[in-house]
Amino acid sequence: MTEPGASFPSTRPRRLRRTAAMRRLVAPSPLAPSDLVLPLFVKEGITDPLPISSMPGVVQHTRESLRKAVVEAVEAGVGGVILFGIPAVKDAHGSAADDPDGIVQHALREVVAEVGDATVVMADLCLDEYTDHGHCGVLTSSGEVDNDKTLERYASIALAQAAAGVHVVGPSGMMDGQVAAIRGALDGAGHTDVAILAYSAKFASAMYGPFREAAECAPQFGDRAGYQQDPARSSDEAVREALLDVAEGADMVMVKPAVGYLDVVRRIADTVGVPVAAYSVSGEYAMVEAAAANGWLDRDRAIHELLTSIRRAGADIVLTYWAAELAARL
Ligand code: PBG
Repeated sequence: MTEPGASFPSTRPRRLRRTAAMRRLVAPSPLAPSDLVLPLFVKEGITDPLPISSMPGVVQHTRESLRKAVVEAVEAGVGGVILFGIPAVKDAHGSAADDPDGIVQHALREVVAEVGDATVVMADLCLDEYTDHGHCGVLTSSGEVDNDKTLERYASIALAQAAAGVHVVGPSGMMDGQVAAIRGALDGAGHTDVAILAYSAKFASAMYGPFREAAECAPQFGDRAGYQQDPARSSDEAVREALLDVAEGADMVMVKPAVGYLDVVRRIADTVGVPVAAYSVSGEYAMVEAAAANGWLDRDRAIHELLTSIRRAGADIVLTYWAAELAARL
């Protein structure tokens, strides 16, 4: 009997898997806490944090509990935080989004004052959390999202967030020309230091379901397929959108969701030449938490494996609701 491998002495990949030390040696840069960004929700007018039923372990924060959560995340070593605001009152134009007295502007000022030198403070820049109809832009009289009117709103929100001290704005509405409109507004007002993390390849995904509970922003009619990308399209379209955003002035680009779109992450990472972020969204979080709660998979290993796969696909930055927990563990 021929001993397996004897005639092919060089074909034994298991040699490099034999010990933990060997695996560590040959693994490319592992997930580091500083690559992780923690998304946080802050709600106006509540006195205690409110649990989000579809995202066990995640809450809508009060301004006070938000500040504490950010301090803890920074102590755990996360690279940044991204804030989502939920106003007490919503209207057709999302007026609270650019109100200097709006919830996110208050939260930004407080968070930046507390940890602004120690971390990167980002804010989602969109209208869906602020409009009563739940769409990411303002509507035409026939009920469609009006691209160019929405750009004016985004420019104004960018200025409000910049005035409140944000380091990075994250436009997530997928309007055409949004990066150019925001860059122009920021530069025109002297906010040349504020960076843009563009949600360039954002797909119309079922995986945002729990987020819509968290941010109270489910569309009241229709869906977002008219502005977000079609998951069925080839990744060529996503690459084109990312390149457009870079040409318009994006400092970083994002792919979202992450786990079902790792091919897109890889192609964009190989193409754009700016840091690439991937957002492991609420549905990805909920799936793992639900399965783990049922004892169907090993929670810690599953989290580590999924986030590592996003990193392996080429993401420099990973947005995840597990950021603080994982950073503390790494
Ligand atoms: C839009 C926005 C959404 C998410 C982040 N920004 C929701 C949507 O497009 O419907 C989803 C994030 C998640 O699911 O974790 N402002």
